Amino acid sequence: MAEAGTPAKNGQAAAVQAEGRKPLISVRNLVKKFDGRTVLSGINLDVYPGETMVIMGGSGCGKSTLLRCMIGSIKPEEGEVCLFGQNVVTLGERELDEVRKKFGILFQSGALFNSMTVAENVALPLEEHTELGREIIDIQVKIKLELVGLREHADKYPAQVSGGMKKRAGLARALSLDPRILFYDEPSAGLDPVTSAEIDRLIVDLTRKLGVTSVVVTHEMDSAFTIADRMAMLDKGRMLAIDTREWFDKLRGLGREQCEELDEDRQLIRQFLRGDAEGPITKRRAATNYAEDLLGGPKDGIAARSIEATRAR
Ligand SMILES: Nc1ncnc2c1ncn2[C@@H]1O[C@H](COP(=O)(O)OP(=O)(O)O)[C@@H](O)[C@H]1O
Ligand SMILES: [Mg+2]
Repeated sequence: MAEAGTPAKNGQAAAVQAEGRKPLISVRNLVKKFDGRTVLSGINLDVYPGETMVIMGGSGCGKSTLLRCMIGSIKPEEGEVCLFGQNVVTLGERELDEVRKKFGILFQSGALFNSMTVAENVALPLEEHTELGREIIDIQVKIKLELVGLREHADKYPAQVSGGMKKRAGLARALSLDPRILFYDEPSAGLDPVTSAEIDRLIVDLTRKLGVTSVVVTHEMDSAFTIADRMAMLDKGRMLAIDTREWFDKLRGLGREQCEELDEDRQLIRQFLRGDAEGPITKRRAATNYAEDLLGGPKDGIAARSIEATRAR
């Protein structure tokens, strides 16, 4: 059996692009601010049918914000996000609901309802968004639970299952409406390494079996390299690079001498991929203004000035 994310799988995604097929998701010049602070500055990203795009970056760099803009749950200040050719930024709630039926989301927490069994959680989207009868819904739920390896645990409550099983249940629910796109936010967060590897394997298997297009946000490199066809690296709201997994793997493997020839962005990506203790990320942190560091961003408010004053004394 082919290993997860083999070159063959990548070749397939590359072929899809070569055919000139349109991207299923297209993000253009996306700008998002919170309280006047720019969190995403002019993001461009295309995701093609059948590929798994992994969005990487350090904590707080804007990954979840980008994902939330992509699914239309928050509105950007500028730019557009086209899903299935429709710009979700300008869609009204009713039209957006129709688009939402075509994608599934697995959030960090799994977000199951604790008062409902695993099966009831998976059935919920079918009850809310379809006219299907009870028997058909029950069959659909069994199929989805079987896909994620949870059929025997259908009648358990979330509190009675492990963290990994909660994630699987969340995934079964995200799959309930047979989505064409799956969005994942840190799917292996909070799981032990083995369970986390099992979830990665499941993502790869599902992508292959169901032919879905996946967008996965993660800061975990093992996971990213296992599941990605292509990768996108975000840094402080800026897109540093979008390329194939092989390209990132090559950058990760570059020796120290070769690395000195690289521009600052490439060096930064390399440090992130390798998890090195030394490099541009560390230098930047050390150089960050103390006030900025304490207050989480460039500020010229009273608190920042009072820190400067304390320092000057
Ligand atoms: N609803 C919000 N209101 C204000 N600031 C936010 C909100 N959501 C995220 N942020 C800020 O935006 C930045 C990016 O956050 P996020 O996208 O969650 O980062 P990541 O997922 O990469 O860790 C952070 O500085 C965060 O504090
Ligand atoms: Mg996040």
